[in-house]
Amino acid sequence: MSYYHIKNLEQYFKHYNKSIREPRKFWGKIAEENFTWYQTWEKVMEFNMAEADIKWFLGAKVNIVKNCIDRHLSKRGSKTAIIFEPNDPSEEAQHITYNELHQRVCKMANVLREQGIKKGDRVCIYLPMIPELAITVLACARIGAIHSVVFAGFSASAVASRIDDSQCKMVITSDGAYRGNKSIELKSIVDEAIEKCPSVEKVLVAKRTHINITMKEGRDIWLQPLVDAASDNNVAEIMDAEDPLFILYTSGSTGKPKGMVHTTAGYMVQTAYSFKNVFNYEENDIHWCTADIGWITGHSYILYGPLLNGATTVIFEGVPSYPDFSRFWEVIEKHGVTQFYTAPTAIRALAKESLEYVQPYPLSSLKVIGSVGEPINEEAWHWYNDHVGGKRCPLVDTWWQTETGSIMISPLAFVTPTKPTYASLPLPGIQPVLMDEKRNEIEGNQVTGSLCIKFPWPSIARTIWGDHQRYKETYFSTFPGKYFTGDGALRDEVGYYRITGRVDDVIIVSGHNLGTAPIEDAINEHPAVAESAIVGFPHDIKGNALYGYIILKEIGETRDKNNVAKEINQLISDQIGPIAKLDKIQFVSGLPKTRSGKIMRRILRKIAEGDFSNFGDTTTLLNPEIVDEIKNGRV
Ligand code: PRX
Repeated sequence: MSYYHIKNLEQYFKHYNKSIREPRKFWGKIAEENFTWYQTWEKVMEFNMAEADIKWFLGAKVNIVKNCIDRHLSKRGSKTAIIFEPNDPSEEAQHITYNELHQRVCKMANVLREQGIKKGDRVCIYLPMIPELAITVLACARIGAIHSVVFAGFSASAVASRIDDSQCKMVITSDGAYRGNKSIELKSIVDEAIEKCPSVEKVLVAKRTHINITMKEGRDIWLQPLVDAASDNNVAEIMDAEDPLFILYTSGSTGKPKGMVHTTAGYMVQTAYSFKNVFNYEENDIHWCTADIGWITGHSYILYGPLLNGATTVIFEGVPSYPDFSRFWEVIEKHGVTQFYTAPTAIRALAKESLEYVQPYPLSSLKVIGSVGEPINEEAWHWYNDHVGGKRCPLVDTWWQTETGSIMISPLAFVTPTKPTYASLPLPGIQPVLMDEKRNEIEGNQVTGSLCIKFPWPSIARTIWGDHQRYKETYFSTFPGKYFTGDGALRDEVGYYRITGRVDDVIIVSGHNLGTAPIEDAINEHPAVAESAIVGFPHDIKGNALYGYIILKEIGETRDKNNVAKEINQLISDQIGPIAKLDKIQFVSGLPKTRSGKIMRRILRKIAEGDFSNFGDTTTLLNPEIVDEIKNGRV
């Protein structure tokens, strides 16, 4: 029996049970039958949860790009691998076949080698959503260089800290980027970033917006002439199953961003498998995931998952609101998209606009629609289901994380049922559990708790770059022996999961994870600020928005608070990026604290939400009187 494709509900239960009873046999068979290996494994897996030490397909040798491209060439060489849809609808879309993708990736891989990049070197990719982004990512993987894609909306100092943390030797960027009716000068952001990054030896620059930029002699090189001169004959690196494939940074509740390290074989097997089953992918489907490749969703479901299955994947450079709010629907019609995968924040923004933007488009090519990144509220779920999915396309609400590498809990289109706002059932191989405050597993149904996973899966991140201790503490120490997701969830009467949101100090704004600590650090750099605390509050489009409580220093001069507020948002924008700006700022004279000095964020959260009930026992606070002041001054 093959386990790769689940065809009906009965098979789902069968495969699921097999994957729990005999995980090694289950994943071993999937890996063996659906990929090409230079050499197979000696052991399917080995793990030690206490040490957070997890390995899959030990001893196997493989190259993920050979699996994404080369092995398809005999059958699918002239099939379209990538459809590039530019920001400006009047610019022609590009169709890149598997043959052409092979040629371009091989050339790029040779360029990287000629420029001194070797297996294990880190390469930072800071590019807009253009074909070069996909090609450079794949070229890195082909030669065993570890790619670290940084979303091209991050500021210079955010880019610098990511480059520095993993000591990237090279940065690949472009002159500029288009985003709706704006253009962004990416190269100048890189110039500013790498002033503080001595590890960077070379910067390769793709041309996109054709603006004038400065090229530093000896360091910066235009990409295209190098590619033109390179051979398209490239021998892929033979990688060990556990060699790192990429680093991707994600915010933590404290400290600097965490460079999650994903390794080769486990990630390959599970992204391919989950893509196939969640979206029920069939040959000739056209898959469009609207995320940016700078996030895990783009890594796994624009690039690796689809290409591993020989699919056609859409890369969209633009935004849903440009030239108007019908862009998504227009692109679905234009390219005959069959699977459409987007984020609740985009749905909410589009649902706020007139139905006249969506109704003229029949969207009859669509088979499956998907959601990812944050809980999807009931209203958005129904709008998406009714007006986009036409009530006939299964809506897969996919729960997973940068750390998990691939989708963990989700309906499987046409196989398992959907339920509004529920991520529903775990994929085979995934064992979710809910934990109570005493760290006991909660049995039975109709319960809520902290979501953990009790057994390793192939695509779990193996460590945090340069800090295994932090990896262990963040994910494996709160509930010993289990992986802690940081999310809360409820399990309904039949065992379906609904993710209720973060239980730590991470706030998800428009689908982006933001840690409160780095934002507070940025604010506290303002000379007039003594202390600050950030919480999230519900927002009808962004899901959550940020509310900042700020204590000003008494600095003699009376500063205009409006100006301070503007300066604070500018600081955040410079240090993290505009996505982390505060929606509301309240100046306060103190923050509610416990006697040990810990800020009571629960109270601040309630005030920000406008919920003045049930503050709990405030008499144990160091400064209970402050609660009324903050309540009265709520903005
Ligand atoms: O809180 C969960 C939320 O997004 C977090 C992971 O964020 P990130 O690592 O950026 O990855 C996002 C894309 C996979 C989770 O801890 N989240 C993600 N998907 C869902 C979700 N919350 C509810 N429902 C989802 N479908």
